[in-house]
Amino acid sequence: MNLHDLDKQHLIHAEVHFRDFYARQPVIIVRGEGSTVYDTEGVPYLDAQGGLGLVNIGYGRKEIGELAARQMEKLMYYHTYFHFSNEPAVRLAAKLAETAPGDLNKVFFTLGGAESVESAAKLARLYQRAKGRPQGDKIICLELGYHGNTFGALSATGMAKHKELFGPLVPGFIHIPAPDRFEGTWGYDEPEAGARYAALLEERILAEGPESVAAFLAEPILGVGGTINPPDDYWRHVRTICDKYDILWIADEVMTGFGRTGATWAVTHFGATPDVICSAKGLTSGYLPLGAVISSDRIVAAITEADLPFTHGFTYAGHPVSCEAALANIAIYEREGLAERSAAIGARFMEQFRERNNPYVADLRGKGLMIGLELARDRESKQRFGGEPAIGFAIEAACFREGVIIGVAPYRDTINLTPPLVLTEAEVDRLVDVLDRVIRSECEKRI
Ligand SMILES: Cc1ncc(COP(=O)(O)O)c(C=O)c1O
Repeated sequence: MNLHDLDKQHLIHAEVHFRDFYARQPVIIVRGEGSTVYDTEGVPYLDAQGGLGLVNIGYGRKEIGELAARQMEKLMYYHTYFHFSNEPAVRLAAKLAETAPGDLNKVFFTLGGAESVESAAKLARLYQRAKGRPQGDKIICLELGYHGNTFGALSATGMAKHKELFGPLVPGFIHIPAPDRFEGTWGYDEPEAGARYAALLEERILAEGPESVAAFLAEPILGVGGTINPPDDYWRHVRTICDKYDILWIADEVMTGFGRTGATWAVTHFGATPDVICSAKGLTSGYLPLGAVISSDRIVAAITEADLPFTHGFTYAGHPVSCEAALANIAIYEREGLAERSAAIGARFMEQFRERNNPYVADLRGKGLMIGLELARDRESKQRFGGEPAIGFAIEAACFREGVIIGVAPYRDTINLTPPLVLTEAEVDRLVDVLDRVIRSECEKRI
């Protein structure tokens, strides 16, 4: 049996309608270099989705494999339970504390984004208990937020359609509207939009009872939900509100971290420091699985003082080979100034795409190389396309036929771009060209 038939026979893929999946051929990627991946037939694809928004340093970096192999020969595993530890985990924790803002100096390792989100939520509940508020267990999140697919992370995720077949979910997760200036109540022309969206958080805290809320958990710039860029002052208002009620602000930087938005951490664009950062994805650029929760000193100090046990952990937390890969990844990212590159290359894309004046792109937004293109039949009225498949998926399929991989928000007519931060200028030019042309031709088919 060939590889494609074997795949269909045995591999359950993520996020598929099985009926569609079995009717098609899987695309098996065998090799990658820079921003390009190659399939079994040797066909190259410009990966403007960067895997799943994580291959920040690009494909094919040999030095990561060499360092990981050396670590594997020396010590392939030791855990971080009890009083045990390992060298790469310690060095990486110190490095993350160095990169993180404020007093975010304590690091707990996980294996990916969902585990980071769940660990942060547990840490927040523990903190509230340490502070003598045992009923402080609610976690407020955003309706368009995406935080992963395990039960806790899925409970934190908004996007109701994504969860409707899996209930009952974990109690205590509550959702408020996202600061969405395209579709939300307060648009780009509303100067107080940031304050008004943040006020929704305070209203909800008061409605629930502040003593019952542990944390506000959200992405600084929402990714999967449709690259939602909040107003610049939104996070400063959130910070003030969280401080007022001693509610923790957990920033899910799983996608936005490590240069994706033109800074190591997206929160630094907004001049406000969270209490906890969740990380994964760009932490290793996908070379090995790893996630991290970076907590402020004061959370760990409160739990220490109350002498509550941290009865939480994962067998592979702080895996030495993954940590070694993360250290090598961060060294490349720093050496090559990839955050700055992300800002510059992202600006080039924006400028060039704006010049095209594509009539079906009603909003072009994002930061660095985290870019969203909002599609509408008509820019002024924001009228959507409707029809099946959703316009974004039709564009995605047509781009793929042209050798370009893009991301699509699953429940909104938005194209999400998260290419490797090493994307070249020539690749930006090609991406702009293909996208502009394909968007026009696919949209015109529906007019
Ligand atoms: C912001 C955010 N949080 C969490 C996750 C979940 O990460 P993982 O798939 O590694 O569990 C994702 C994945 O896309 C994400 O974008």
